[in-house]
Amino acid sequence: MLTCLSQLPESKRQGLPIAVLTAYDYPTARLLDEAGVDLLLVGDSLGMVVLGLPDTTGVTMEMMLHHTAAVRRTVKRAPVIADLPFHSYDTPDQALANAKSLVKAGADAVKLEGGVSFIPQIKAIIGAGIPFIGHIGMLPQSVKEEGGYKKKGKTPEQIDLLIADAVALDEAGALAIVLESIVPDVATEITRRVKASTIGIGAGKQTDGQVLVTPDLIGSFPWFRPPFAKARADVAGETLRAVQEYVLECQTKA
Ligand code: KIV
Repeated sequence: MLTCLSQLPESKRQGLPIAVLTAYDYPTARLLDEAGVDLLLVGDSLGMVVLGLPDTTGVTMEMMLHHTAAVRRTVKRAPVIADLPFHSYDTPDQALANAKSLVKAGADAVKLEGGVSFIPQIKAIIGAGIPFIGHIGMLPQSVKEEGGYKKKGKTPEQIDLLIADAVALDEAGALAIVLESIVPDVATEITRRVKASTIGIGAGKQTDGQVLVTPDLIGSFPWFRPPFAKARADVAGETLRAVQEYVLECQTKA
């Protein structure tokens, strides 16, 4: 079980897989921390699974700061990573200013989506001493440009681009890299090539760790769940049952 980000390289060296989950609020973060999750991610997926937005492009710094602070109020052990939202890192100065705000709100590390083309921003963040996590593959913040959520690493050109992104992030000093929706063999090759810990989501089983969006895992957002995410609980069903029981009891005069 991780207690600080500096343990990541040793975990990778020893082949100890890491478990990462998203957290957006105090009670969930508290339970995940107690349950032994290695890293907590205040992901911008909160736009969809908490705030009801159609995708992550509407998530703002204000939202990220609000939820990062809520998670920080309870977490005692697991390092907390916070996402830089869409258009919050267009320039190195903007990326650094916003990364500093997330750290002030309680993040131990920040994450942004992209590889080679964001190296100046990433170097500004790491140069200021802020631990950094990369994110490559299918990038939810690019959903509009890409016209949907598409698996990456299917063609030789895509494979070359993914490997170039991973190597650039690694050389810039990323501690870990999220590999989202990547052909498993390509994710395995990236994992072999980089010093950073790879954290897969929809990228096969051979990455150094796995991440899931917690509502997908616990079944609290039943209206959409990606095919690779296995729900291990039915929080939505149990909530409906308890609330319907309560409503009936309130409405029934004995
Ligand atoms: O925002 C998020 O939840 C993420 C995970 C899907 C990795 O970035």
